[in-house]
Amino acid sequence: MKTRIIGTGSCLPETVVTNDDLSKIMDTSDEWISSRTGIRARHLVKEETTSSMSIEAAKRAMENAGVTADEIDLIILGTVSPDYVTPACACEVQAAIGAKNAVAFDINAACSGFMFALNITNAYIQAGLYRTALILGAETLSKIIDWKDRGTCVLFGDGAGAAVVRGDEKYGMLSFDQGSDGVKGDVLACLNRTNNNPLVETDPMLSYVHMDGQEVYKFAVTTVPASLQKTIEAAGLTAEDIDYFALHQANIRIIQSVSKRLHISEEKFPISLDHCGNISAASVPILLDEMNRKGLLQPGMKIAMSGFGGGLTWASAVLEW
Ligand code: COA
Repeated sequence: MKTRIIGTGSCLPETVVTNDDLSKIMDTSDEWISSRTGIRARHLVKEETTSSMSIEAAKRAMENAGVTADEIDLIILGTVSPDYVTPACACEVQAAIGAKNAVAFDINAACSGFMFALNITNAYIQAGLYRTALILGAETLSKIIDWKDRGTCVLFGDGAGAAVVRGDEKYGMLSFDQGSDGVKGDVLACLNRTNNNPLVETDPMLSYVHMDGQEVYKFAVTTVPASLQKTIEAAGLTAEDIDYFALHQANIRIIQSVSKRLHISEEKFPISLDHCGNISAASVPILLDEMNRKGLLQPGMKIAMSGFGGGLTWASAVLEW
């Protein structure tokens, strides 16, 4: 039995904010942002929330897969920006779509969240515990970003992506790799709320994402090609056999570097970061959904996927579509 993605969906907030829009409210420019990152615009929430976008993406993925809510027995959602500490956003999705037979929980693996969810689902399916899963990556990063820090706020956006995954006899996941390096956790971090119990004297403090961009860049351009290479070899394939590389959309220069290191044309690396920015856990499923809806993905095609980011964490998978 293989773990196969049988449907995709996504949801982006209605409001688009271009680099030029940002340059009107902070000291930046389209030239600076687009030449260093490839990002030209991002969607930011006004009315939308992490759960409302997740629910919409889930409905679209279920419709695309032709699966009803009753058939879903597992929901895993990757996020670092849920609406509530509890209940989990996955439970909110479960309630909204009426997936009463499902077990639902969130995971935090930052930008690797969707890939970790896929790999966990694969383990459950291989163990014979569940057959049909809904996996999601969803973020409202705009609420945890410091809008006074031009070095980070221009990079991120909001949105949600989803996939329906099912055990399949013919096509599906061939191999995966995942890892973490907690020692380097502070290069991309966001503190949770501070303790306000009667025994502790702290000022309640709001904290926002802070990042050492150059360290994150170095981590990505070494770890991602190595993880992809390992996963492709474990599938019994070479990089040339892969039809598309669906990578986390952090920065065009990271993607170009991976393409160079693997000696694979950039044409095989589809992009959504130009109009979405970096949406952490949501980046990979949104990209997959865009590829799927453009008709790029045909049954049996070999797709390599990779997520990487805070933790630090990384995860790759090779699958037949
Ligand atoms: N607009 C204009 N200037 C900006 C700016 C902005 N939005 N942000 C920073 N700058 C300035 C800095 O103040 C600095 O000016 P100075 O030289 O006068 O001090 C200069 O640009 C260079 O800043 P620096 O941070 O060294 O830029 P960089 O070349 O390292 O590029 C990133 C910054 C963030 C684009 C780059 O480090 C990167 O892409 N890292 C990976 C980040 C990432 O992908 N994170 C998510 C992974 S999941």
